[in-house]
Amino acid sequence: MSVAIYPGSFDPLTNGHVDIIERGARLFDRIIVAMLINMDKSPLFTLPERVEITREVFHDSANVEVDTFDGLLVDYVERRRAHVIVRGLRAVSDFEFEFQMALMNQRLSPRIETVFMMPAEQYTYISSRLIKEVFSLGGRVHGLVPELVETRLREKVLATKGA
Ligand code: PNS
Repeated sequence: MSVAIYPGSFDPLTNGHVDIIERGARLFDRIIVAMLINMDKSPLFTLPERVEITREVFHDSANVEVDTFDGLLVDYVERRRAHVIVRGLRAVSDFEFEFQMALMNQRLSPRIETVFMMPAEQYTYISSRLIKEVFSLGGRVHGLVPELVETRLREKVLATKGA
């Protein structure tokens, strides 16, 4: 059985992520969306919120699993008995960081391969960071994130204003 790990922060999940997960689900028997437990960052959505949103978006996809991890990614990949790390590549600007990570992971665990996938063209400029910035400044993100994420973003803003 081919198992792939798609790691990241997913704060929030975008339609670019969704596109990559769907591609991965067609290519591998199972794809595990693995969210990093990162104590240093102050995310917009808590880890349980991000997990819940992603599970909800993929509740009809039997071979998509959502999980969390901390520590080294390669150790997590080994623990899950996977052989592949999936990463999305949007533009040349992504390449340098992705190249460094892929080679470091290759050095740490030579039997694990990183597979890069391009999202559909209309998602190549979307990033979680831009979504948060645009939304917080009142811009429209419709069509760029799943509807559930849009709803949750609205709730966050209302909760912040109410606080
Ligand atoms: O979506 P992101 O934030 O670009 O994802 C980055 C992620 C989670 C893939 C990366 O930070 C990671 O793998 N962290 C786990 C710690 C680790 O293994 N670091 C060495 C990677 S070369």
